[in-house]
Amino acid sequence: MRVDIVTLFPELFDTFLKTSFVGRGVSTGRLDVRLRSPRDFGLGNHKSVDDTPYGGGSGMLMRVDVMVACMEALDLDAESAKEEKPRARRILLTPQGQPFAQAAAARFAGLPAIMLVCGRYEGFDERIRGFIDEELSLGDFVMTGGEVAAMAVVEAVVRLLPGVLGNAESTHEESHAEGGLLEYPQYTRPAEFRGQAVPEVLAKGNHAHIKEWRKGQSLARTLSRRPDLVTAAHVAADTAGKRKSAS
Ligand SMILES: C[S@@+](CC[C@H](N)C(=O)[O-])C[C@H]1O[C@@H](n2cnc3c(N)ncnc32)[C@H](O)[C@@H]1O
Repeated sequence: MRVDIVTLFPELFDTFLKTSFVGRGVSTGRLDVRLRSPRDFGLGNHKSVDDTPYGGGSGMLMRVDVMVACMEALDLDAESAKEEKPRARRILLTPQGQPFAQAAAARFAGLPAIMLVCGRYEGFDERIRGFIDEELSLGDFVMTGGEVAAMAVVEAVVRLLPGVLGNAESTHEESHAEGGLLEYPQYTRPAEFRGQAVPEVLAKGNHAHIKEWRKGQSLARTLSRRPDLVTAAHVAADTAGKRKSAS
């Protein structure tokens, strides 16, 4: 999969792209990341990429002409590399977008290419919205730039690409995976730490009991922390499971 990134600070990605699963995705060719700076398309002697807002107001805005030139250059790079799908799905990173969630990560992992467009300053000239496919936010807070949001998207997507994680099962059983619930509590050695013991059911090793315990814990944990994620289907499945194990 290809990820094109429009950023004024490509150097921020240097270590990121070499580390852990992202690094593995890149080194095995499963993830191809191409960075392009709008500065390369900046105007005048100073290679300006921003300007003052019409109507006044504080701060500077990223110019639409410069941003679109950069985005289109990434498409042209892909075209000249004879990519099958040169035009990537363009995603604007902005606190005004839809909150980024696992479903979007899964959708992106199924695409041949996405483009992540990072802002700086006070954001973008509104007209950039005519050149993008969707807007995503990392959450209801404001950062100084879109790069951390872009890294979050890459991190979430790369672990869903076939062959990047050693054990694909781990992405099925996680929080926010297909079931939509939070993951059950997990433990490793030591068996006891400062008076807290690992639950007996896990130590005993009966797989059917462990599976049932984990399901229950997953639902209970989600109900207490994120009740908004629990549906009637989850509760019905839990009740049916309990009836079955009682009979
Ligand atoms: C200081 S912010 C601009 C905020 C803008 N003035 C507003 O009120 O919506 C600069 C850039 O950081 C990025 N950014 C900031 N917060 C973000 C968030 N929660 N999610 C995604 N990107 C964000 C965006 O790319 C944004 O254009």
